[in-house]
Amino acid sequence: MTLCDDYGNSISTNSADARDHYDRGVQLFLGADFGAGAAFAAAVAADPDFALGHAALARALMMEGRMPEAKAAITRAETLVASANDREQTHVAAFAALFQGNPKGARSTVRALVRDHPRDAMAAQLCTNVFGLIGFSGEVGREAELLAYTEALIPHYEGDWWMMSMHALSLCETGQIAASRALMDRSLALNPRNANAAHFRAHEQYEAGDIAAGREYLSDWITDYDSRSVLYGHISWHMALWALHDGDEAAMWQAVNNGVKPGSSSSLPINVLTDTAAILYRAEIAGMTVDPQSWQDLSAYAARFFPETGQSFADMHAALCHAMAGDGERLAYIADTAKGYAGDLVRPVAKGWGDIARQNWSGALEHLSEVMATTERLGGSRAQRDLIELAYVNVLMKLGHEEEARRTLKLRRPVLSISTPVLNMH
Ligand SMILES: [Fe+2]
Repeated sequence: MTLCDDYGNSISTNSADARDHYDRGVQLFLGADFGAGAAFAAAVAADPDFALGHAALARALMMEGRMPEAKAAITRAETLVASANDREQTHVAAFAALFQGNPKGARSTVRALVRDHPRDAMAAQLCTNVFGLIGFSGEVGREAELLAYTEALIPHYEGDWWMMSMHALSLCETGQIAASRALMDRSLALNPRNANAAHFRAHEQYEAGDIAAGREYLSDWITDYDSRSVLYGHISWHMALWALHDGDEAAMWQAVNNGVKPGSSSSLPINVLTDTAAILYRAEIAGMTVDPQSWQDLSAYAARFFPETGQSFADMHAALCHAMAGDGERLAYIADTAKGYAGDLVRPVAKGWGDIARQNWSGALEHLSEVMATTERLGGSRAQRDLIELAYVNVLMKLGHEEEARRTLKLRRPVLSISTPVLNMH
């Protein structure tokens, strides 16, 4: 008897229990909901020889930041998958490449796999989303590539809330806000607890400048979201961002303290670092007072979790923390030696942060100018990259170039010129 998963892929297990737990885990994982790891653990408990169950468990553990256990699970999957079908072997190979620190290999393996098996959702997922293998490719035009990727997959996912939300996200990040929102609403109607959809609905509202509606939507949605879930901290960041743009400083700090900053949520270190650094500096740009100790704490956090460079989006934010905390040695290490998919851009950005911390505004302008043409290479969503946009505009303001600051924002990020979160820009 051959069993199939919910997406119609044949799977090498004879246990209907294992299959059921696996399907439940896939639903929770794709919806960024809490409990996927336990569901996959139950799947491999029901059938210890279920290779894809172990691979999925590895992926869920990775998203919980439990890397040693995740590596053990992927090793088990690699051993078991030799007797499974071709699709499963390629699926595990893609995951294994990711764990071996070979994102390019993982990406090309997934691309090849979904050509023959477009409904292998767990493998396809690796290349979706802003923090996926395409998002962190460091390539110019990666937003368009993500759009092409989900555009090609969505006809194979008729009525599927997860793929709708992934394609809606791709549409949002390429500026197709109305189309994105229509599709995201369809996804949310099918599964209102899809955190990926709620998250990018907030992005749509951000891109449309719907501050009041955005604040209302997220503060309502998050009340039923388990605080141990992978997106809890990042959704809290979006709430903090809305509050900042709305001038509601108390609500901003509440969101930061309750879900964004180190120790306040179960977020992955990359989210804790990048979101906290971004909100602290964006608060400074808006003229709010930031406790210097917050920068010290975050600099120490960055040094602990990202001592080496390589993840350019994290590195860019780590450099900001070290600059603001006055740690010249750590800052220089990133500014002089950054490796990774966009290391060549991280270096000038890091130098720019150093200049900003020393209030050398003309130096900062020179360094930041080097990266403005292709900031997408650094990774992150448009809303996240507004950290650089706003820093650049703020530097222009500090140099007294108010008109140029205004024009720059209108040219590059018109939505931010409606209500500009930069001190003295109205
Ligand atoms: Fe986001």
